[in-house]
Amino acid sequence: MPGDGIGKVVLPEAIRVLDAVDFDADYVHGDIGWDFWMSEGNPLPDRTIDLLREHKLGLFGAITSKPKPAALAELAPELQGQDLTYYSPIVRMRQLFNLDICIRPCVSFPGNPLNFVRRGPTGAIVEPPVNAVIFRQNTEGLYSGVEWTNPPAAVRAALETHPKMQAYADVPGADLAVSCRIFSRNACRRILRAAFEYAQKQGFRSVTVCEKPNVIRETSGMMLEEGLQMAREYPGIELWDTNIDAMMMWLSKNPQDYGVVVGGNMFADIISDGFAGLVGGLGFACSANIGPEVAVFEPTHGSAPKYETLEPSIVNPIAMILSACMMLDHVGEGDKGDRIRKAIAHVVAEGKVRSYDMAGLRGGPEAIAQGAASTEEVTDAIIAKL
Ligand code: NAI
Ligand code: MG
Repeated sequence: MPGDGIGKVVLPEAIRVLDAVDFDADYVHGDIGWDFWMSEGNPLPDRTIDLLREHKLGLFGAITSKPKPAALAELAPELQGQDLTYYSPIVRMRQLFNLDICIRPCVSFPGNPLNFVRRGPTGAIVEPPVNAVIFRQNTEGLYSGVEWTNPPAAVRAALETHPKMQAYADVPGADLAVSCRIFSRNACRRILRAAFEYAQKQGFRSVTVCEKPNVIRETSGMMLEEGLQMAREYPGIELWDTNIDAMMMWLSKNPQDYGVVVGGNMFADIISDGFAGLVGGLGFACSANIGPEVAVFEPTHGSAPKYETLEPSIVNPIAMILSACMMLDHVGEGDKGDRIRKAIAHVVAEGKVRSYDMAGLRGGPEAIAQGAASTEEVTDAIIAKL
């Protein structure tokens, strides 16, 4: 599912790398994204859902989404006035297949000029290695979509059974917006289980639950309670409990202290971007969305439309290639994934072939003349190391 914009650029690059390690697979194209919203009124056509249901593994590039007025204006003329609504195909995919476990590794490659550095006690610059893996509950919490502006009377009445709603007694409905933060115990357990299992397999000595149970007592409280309970099953692994606000400070101060971090949908989304910024940003941020049956692997970045038509392309394919490595891990071909990660590490450390982001250049058509490698050249260099 290449999707839109640079999704169409980076996905074929990842497949070239998968071919280079002789990953034995057939690739079936899946339609997704803005083109299908415009032409069919549906950015995730049923035929793509059927493909995922049948084949169970998805590699996904990126999609474009636009605000409501633009979405309606760009619909094909014959679809206008049919009351169609744009829903993010990613969110839909996550909900349809219950892709509730999102894994976002943020691992620094030595020699990457985009890595986090600071001054050590002697004034010399030090580069602490970052090796954090964020486990994000991917379907619930503040992104559950249960929300209203001007809530219906029954909802308002139900809310008003809570004494704290007294504070809003005089607020007119039209001036009241409510987004529900819903956690279910089973989903908390599933994301915690995934985190602990990963920690055990990969030899991490701690799992950090990152929520805010001292204030958000019910939802964050449930995640922590389940975490404490589960930790008893993993004697070698300590449970750390860090509040989201403190976490943002600690990760930008001592990122090397963290390993496996687990949290609800929004907090873990925020933390994973925080860590990604320390290891190279969007050109390096990969992710897996894993459900009971289906799994989809995608870079964190979007479709970067301003780079879509640049010839040659300048975007960094590494985030997509690392996402493909996560797919290899998932299907038991982790050796191939490790080989690719080693090849990437080699290219980054050598520093001869650098996409514009690694080269510290502004993105644009002039980046190549200024010494940036093209997307294809970065992939070629990785394949050469393989
Ligand atoms: P974006 O991630 O597409 O791009 C932001 C900036 O990050 C780019 O302008 C570029 O400077 C840099 N960048 C992104 N990917 C890069 C790569 N592989 N190599 C080097 N630099 C890279 O986010 P933006 O501009 O906010 O959104 C553009 C479109 O993408 C929107 O329509 C948005 O809705 C959509 N989007 C889709 C996502 C997805 O498909 N998962 C996630 C985020 C945004
Ligand atoms: Mg995000």
